[in-house]
Parts: sequence; structure tokens; C-alpha cells
Amino acid sequence: MIREDPRRLKELIELSAHIAEVKDLDEVMERILGTARDFTDCDAGSIYIKQGDHLLFSYAQNDTLSSRLKSGEKLIYTTFKVPVDNNSIAGYVASSGKTLNLTDVYHLPPELPFSFDKSYDESANYRTKSMLTVPLMTINKRVVGVLQLINRLDTGCQVTAFETELEPYVNFFATNAAGALAQAQLTRTILLRMIKMAELRDPKETGNHVNRVAGYSVEIFETWAKKKGMAQKDIDSSRDVLRMAAMLHDVGKVAISDLILKKPGRLDDEEFAMMKTHTVLGARLFRDSQSGFEEAASEVALNHHEKWDGSGYPGHVDVLTGEALPGKSGDDGSPLPKKGEEISLYGRIVALADVYDALSSSRSYKKAWSEEKVLGIIEEGRGAHFDPAIVDAFMECLPTLRSIMKRYSG
Ligand code: C2E
Ligand code: SIN
Ligand code: SIN
Ligand code: FE
Ligand code: FE
Repeated sequence: MIREDPRRLKELIELSAHIAEVKDLDEVMERILGTARDFTDCDAGSIYIKQGDHLLFSYAQNDTLSSRLKSGEKLIYTTFKVPVDNNSIAGYVASSGKTLNLTDVYHLPPELPFSFDKSYDESANYRTKSMLTVPLMTINKRVVGVLQLINRLDTGCQVTAFETELEPYVNFFATNAAGALAQAQLTRTILLRMIKMAELRDPKETGNHVNRVAGYSVEIFETWAKKKGMAQKDIDSSRDVLRMAAMLHDVGKVAISDLILKKPGRLDDEEFAMMKTHTVLGARLFRDSQSGFEEAASEVALNHHEKWDGSGYPGHVDVLTGEALPGKSGDDGSPLPKKGEEISLYGRIVALADVYDALSSSRSYKKAWSEEKVLGIIEEGRGAHFDPAIVDAFMECLPTLRSIMKRYSG
């Protein structure tokens, strides 16, 4: 029988509250689906996210298919779109806002307007049978997506129907999940707009610079992390965070005057002092970090001009004031330098990616250098400007970095 058990409800409320704290979109989807599947004991599930008049198949879990993989392999699924209309199960649920509880999708009641698309089952050698599909609808009745739970298992691990009594619980959960999803989407949208804004500031070179530095950073990180034995799952969950943060490394330059930013020649001391503030200014934009994305963006903006040997900038500063942190000032009141692992990992990675790109490209104030010369400078900077372990990872993945450079050239 179904859990009319108040403890079960309490557990669900606690899980919902926990999901509301998770802010990154991918993590939110993982939690939503994992929690809903645990609660209903089902083998598989998917999340669709609404984009305009379509649903994007965005996330999936499937225990049966995962158990057929070798250890370390991940479930691969292709994303696809379905229109929000009555021709598909997910589309019907999104357009009607109704829950759909089907006992066997291969034998649908004839009055239903849609049929089940078996092509995925056939290619994956899987049999989808019972399916509970609920709209991810916020308390304001806005549909942000669809949650699909597949193949409920009984105590003997046989596929069974989703009991009607489960529906209110899952709907309650879906409302909370929809709120968390909407919040995570908003965060991502705002960050993407900030990236656009940073690009627009200097359309001639920045757009590609931003994409290249992000691409290099993710590649260097992955090589570094694999050598460290980091689990693939953790590497994957960091990739998007680092990519977005690296794209925003120079976002503080939006506050720097064009006279300095686009100066054709060398900067004088005063101009360069101004330019250096782009680190703190960028970090300040994210000081009330709400998500892993924002925290990483703040960290990267602040740290990407620090140097391993402590000769970089801005050092141990308070992001709010730009002044030295308490107990971190020298005799003259200036901030103490940051060195070695005091500089955050993402900062150390983006520092190298940024210089590699700056040297390899032409700027308003310099020509592009040959790869040989660029690699020479990076090698020279090992242990001085750069973390030696990051330089090693860089050299190891250089062929991939070259192809990223080609992809985002011009
Ligand atoms: P950027 O152009 O993205 O350069 C990033 C970093 O790459 C620089 O940080 C520096 O570490 C390295 N880099 C760039 N060009 C050279 C070079 O010719 N030789 C060497 N050894 N390293 C180079 P840095 O120096 O802190 O500069 C930060 C930003 O300040 C630069 O970002 C650029 O926007 C601006 N900037 C720096 N120097 C000048 C300059 O002389 N004229 C102008 N107009 N802007 C400058
Ligand atoms: C995203 O993660 O969806 C945007 C950043 C990117 O990967 O380009
Ligand atoms: C992560 O490694 O995924 C978190 C990065 C951060 O927020 O600093
Ligand atoms: Fe910078
Ligand atoms: Fe840069």
C-alpha cells in the first residue's frame, strides 16, 4: 500500500527544502529527478525544460541502462525537442498542465490524442511501461518543464503502475522543484547576459578571447583533474561552472574607460593602476554569491592576474573596498601578495589560459607572437608566474588547445 505515512511527507518536505538551496541548473535537475525517483521507486525518469513553445529533453536517469555500462562509463542520451502540443506525452502535459498516469505506454487508451514514440526504447533495448508525467509548474501556475517518471518497481523489482495515491505527493514536490528550476534558470540567464555585455565592450577582440580562454581553461582543468584522480562525475559537474566563470574573467573591464581599454600604445603607470582594478571590480559584481557559478566567477575575476610567486595583483584585498584584508597589509598599508595555493585553483588555471591567449593574439597594443615564443614564455613562467602543475597540464593538452584556437579564430 501507499505511504499515507506522515513521516514520508515530512521527508518529502525536507527534500524539497533542500532542493531549493541547490542553485546550479544541472545540479537542480539531478536532485529533482533523483529525489522523485527515490520517492516513487521507479527505474528511470527524464526532465524536459520549456523553451518558448518547445520542450527540450534536458536530463535523464535510467538504472537499468546504467547497470549495463562498464564502470566509469556514463549514460549517453541525445537531447531533442518536442512541441508543446497534444502530439506527445510530455507536450500534452505541458500544454494542459495536467498530470498523466499511464499503466502501459504501449497500450494507450484510444481516446488519448498522442501515441508513444518507441524509437528510443528500440535503439536502447529498453521497455518503457508505466509512466507518471507531471508538469513542473510554479505556484504562479507557470509551466517551466515536465517531469517524467518511468517504470515504477514493486518490492519484487517488477514493473507496476504508479498508484493514484502517489499523485498529490509528486505534484506537491513538482511545485517546489519548479520554483528551484526557475531560480536556477534565472541565474544562468543573468550570467549569460553579463558575458554578452563583457563581449560587447570590445567587439573587435573580446568575443573570441572570451570563448578561447574558457575553452582552454576547461581543457587544462580536465587534464589536471584526471592526473589528480578526480572522479569523472566531479570533473563533469565543474566544467560548466569553470567555463562560465572563465568567460567572465575580464567582466570588470566594463568599468574601465575606453581611453585606457582601447589605447593603441603602452599604458602609463597611472593607466595601468586603473586597469588593474578590473579584477576587484569584476569580483564585486558577484559578491553576494548565490550559486556555484557566481562564486567561481567571483574567484576567477579576482585571482586571474595573481602570480604563483606572489608578484601578481591585487593580493589579499577585501572585494568590497579594494583595500587590504584585516591582518593582510604590509608596513605601508598595501595588501600582502597572494602566492602559491593561496590563489584559487580556477584563478591559477585562467591566469595561464589568459596569457596563452593574449600572447598568441594581436591586441590594440601588440602583435601576435609565434607559438614557439609563446611556449618559451610559458615555460619560463613555470613556478614564477604560473603553477608548475598547471603548466604541465597545459603542455599535455596543447594539441587540443590548438584546435580550440582554430575554432575561435578571427
Ligand atoms: P590582456 O590583453 O588580456 O592580457 C592578459 C595578460 O597577458 C596580461 O596581464 C599579461 O600578463 C599577459 N600579456 C599580454 N601581452 C603581453 C606581452 O606583450 N608580454 C608579456 N610578457 N605578457 C603579456 P596584464 O599585464 O596584467 O594586463 C591586463 C590587461 O591590461 C590586458 O589584458 C590588457 O587589456 C591591458 N593592458 C596591459 N598592458 C597594456 C598596454 O600596454 N596597452 C594597452 N592598451 N592595454 C594593456
Ligand atoms: C552553459 O553552461 O550553458 C553556458 C556556458 C557555456 O557552456 O558556453
Ligand atoms: C565546483 O568545483 O563545482 C565548485 C566551484 C566553485 O563554486 O568554486
Ligand atoms: Fe584580466
Ligand atoms: Fe583577459
